Amino acid sequence: MDKLLEIKDLKVSFFTHAGEVKAVGGISYDIGHGEIMGIVGESGSGKSVEAYTIIGLLQSPGKVVGGEVIFEGENILDYTPEQMEEFRGNKVSMIFQNPMTCLNPVYTIGNQLTEALLCHKKMEKKVAWDKAIEMLELVGINNPDKRMKQYPHELSGGMRQRVMIAMGLICDPMLLIADEPTTALDVTIQAQILELIRKLQKERQMSVIFITHNLGVVAEVCDKVSVMYAGKIVEQGTVDDIFYNPSHPYTLGLMRSMPRVDAKEYERLIPIEGNPVDMLNPPEGCGFGARCEYCMNICLRKEPPTIDLGNGHRSSCWLLASKLAGEANHE
Ligand SMILES: Nc1ncnc2c1ncn2[C@@H]1O[C@H](COP(=O)(O)OP(=O)(O)OP(=O)(O)O)[C@@H](O)[C@H]1O
Ligand SMILES: [Mg+2]
Repeated sequence: MDKLLEIKDLKVSFFTHAGEVKAVGGISYDIGHGEIMGIVGESGSGKSVEAYTIIGLLQSPGKVVGGEVIFEGENILDYTPEQMEEFRGNKVSMIFQNPMTCLNPVYTIGNQLTEALLCHKKMEKKVAWDKAIEMLELVGINNPDKRMKQYPHELSGGMRQRVMIAMGLICDPMLLIADEPTTALDVTIQAQILELIRKLQKERQMSVIFITHNLGVVAEVCDKVSVMYAGKIVEQGTVDDIFYNPSHPYTLGLMRSMPRVDAKEYERLIPIEGNPVDMLNPPEGCGFGARCEYCMNICLRKEPPTIDLGNGHRSSCWLLASKLAGEANHE
């Protein structure tokens, strides 16, 4: 499959008064045309910072300190602000974690939905207005004519989320980044919105980066998964690799903390013990070491190598490295 996006050893830090927060500490992955990549990991693991970087909206004191973001063969980190604006309007868009960070309270929904079409697609006002109404219908908003003239605060949370999805899709992006697009919604609306994103993705052969805490959603929607912990991708692979053949202890922990329909009656959910890493003072070695039930001495001293398990399945863990070395010695 052709690559649309390649992220190579991307590093992003925040330079705060207290020191450097290494929010993204060197991540790499690629996404093909029409592919959906899920990004999972607990709060603070760097998912949103990474997304903001890809779309060129990283705010100060955040800075890219290394790596490349290659989109259709060009490193977008080298783009001028004008090129970046053009890129955002035409090629990539994002559904934000919080609708209010994206919807402007003082403009009507219609104004905000048509803006991109008027600026980037140079559409006539009437054409843009009709297209926006069509988009609102597509995301399941009743009475779109009326909604176009309303302000964000006049809409319910679920409706605002749908408006954001409409905004994300209206310019026909090649890549959609959806950052927890359904977190604030109740379960039935969540399911409808996921269904919608999937349907549109199929129809338009769009690529999607889907950021979520919810592994059930990943299993349902994604082709590939990157599991993030403390600013790093600790394991990545296809949905089948990650769900049926997980190899990193953190991924295993995530799986055990997730409810499953095929669980036996007596099986309990097991939370991952311990606290997330303090990104201002990250530990030596493996970020997950202190919480890992298989932790060895080396894990607390040296960063683990990334082991290639074949077909894009990769995992960064000393346990796996030593197991493989053991097997090699036996041969
Ligand atoms: N403006 C900022 N200044 C300093 N540190 C920041 C800033 N924004 C984010 N960070 C830090 O970057 C790290 C990653 O944050 P990020 O928002 O990407 O997490 P996340 O994985 O999206 O979490 P969540 O699941 O809660 O949305 C965190 O340690 C956070 O404290
Ligand atoms: Mg986030």
